[in-house]
Amino acid sequence: MQCLTTRMDGTPPRLTDREGPSAPDAPDAVVVRTLRVGIDGTDHAVVAGAHGHPPPGRDDLILGHEAVGVTETPHPQLPAGSVVAPLVRRPRGAAAPARLDMAPPSAVHECGIAGADGFACERFVADVRYLVAIPSALASAGILIEPLSVAHKAIDLAAAARQTVPWEPAHAVVIGNGSLGLLCTLALQLDPRIGRVSCMSRRDRPDPTIAMIERLGASYLDTRRMPVPELAEASEPPSLIIEATGHAPHAFETIAALAPGGVGALLGVPGDDVRSLDAGRLHRERVVGNKALIGSVNSGRQAYLQAVETLAAAPSWVADAMIYRVLPHREAPAAFTRDDTTIKTAIEFSMYEERR
Ligand code: NAP
Ligand code: BGC
Ligand code: ZN
Repeated sequence: MQCLTTRMDGTPPRLTDREGPSAPDAPDAVVVRTLRVGIDGTDHAVVAGAHGHPPPGRDDLILGHEAVGVTETPHPQLPAGSVVAPLVRRPRGAAAPARLDMAPPSAVHECGIAGADGFACERFVADVRYLVAIPSALASAGILIEPLSVAHKAIDLAAAARQTVPWEPAHAVVIGNGSLGLLCTLALQLDPRIGRVSCMSRRDRPDPTIAMIERLGASYLDTRRMPVPELAEASEPPSLIIEATGHAPHAFETIAALAPGGVGALLGVPGDDVRSLDAGRLHRERVVGNKALIGSVNSGRQAYLQAVETLAAAPSWVADAMIYRVLPHREAPAAFTRDDTTIKTAIEFSMYEERR
């Protein structure tokens, strides 16, 4: 079977032949036929060698952590023919941490990113514990479940940080118009606890991401005209900011931009970025403003289920607008070329055909 692999050294990914699974290799293992795999900013960082690492003893990695597939082998908890989205993390040792998404990186592998092969293959095998059944109506859009679940986990952690005080953000801001930023915008826009939503980036109109932000009912803010810290002086400073760029200065600017009592959730994964900062000011602003800054990575089953609800409730045009192009798997390496019109690229390994 064909798989999309990377040497994680900046050279383009390529298709390689691997032996396909003929049968499950353990009692709880299930063979999954891959439908689609999505590409995000992390995949680009993995290919560039800036994030992640190959499985032990190997110098390459099968890509793909945003996936949707159909189970081919039956399991008492999951009939054959189920449409599934796989979780990304696996325990590194025999004892699985209670929440893999909250475990230290040293305790886990991430499929397609760090220490374990991903799902960009015609078939893959997964333990049933790491597969989430999703409605078959979401078979084409299912690659959005994983990144949308990342958005939901971050919103949950932000809300948990304000559990003991009244907190109803009248204004929430997402920094970043990549696929993650747009999915955060969608999740916030459909969240009844949130008032209005803005999404910030540095793009000129016409631009497909600005069009999507506005069609969702959110506002577009240009960071070149409204630098992030100036949000604090705006008519309604945000009580929730989600950073989804990986641009480290935005993380610290978030502190100044938040309304008193606000929460900033950082999702971007930057490389090293050495700068001088006024540490006293950042410390003081957080304390006297009762501001919280949290980091959030990965997601678990509960967040996947929230993502399923959000995607099912989203207007039908959203998935089509997000998944800007679908490439047949034979053209998979081309998924790593992109320009300002690319929101998300999907690689299609097979088509979904509902069983009757
Ligand atoms: P993406 O599609 O590449 O989007 C990146 C976004 O960041 C774009 O809006 C880009 O704007 C902006 N950006 C990049 N460099 C910037 C800079 N120097 N200044 C201002 N804006 C900048 O990536 P993505 O898939 O949305 O992911 C966004 C980040 O989240 C990445 O760091 C990714 O690794 C991380 N991530 C984290 C998790 C998690 O679990 N925490 C999950 C998924 C992704 P332009 O288009 O103008 O360049
Ligand atoms: C993935 C997460 C992963 C994170 C850090 C993201 O792109 O969606 O599942 O934990 O990267 O590697
Ligand atoms: Zn990702």
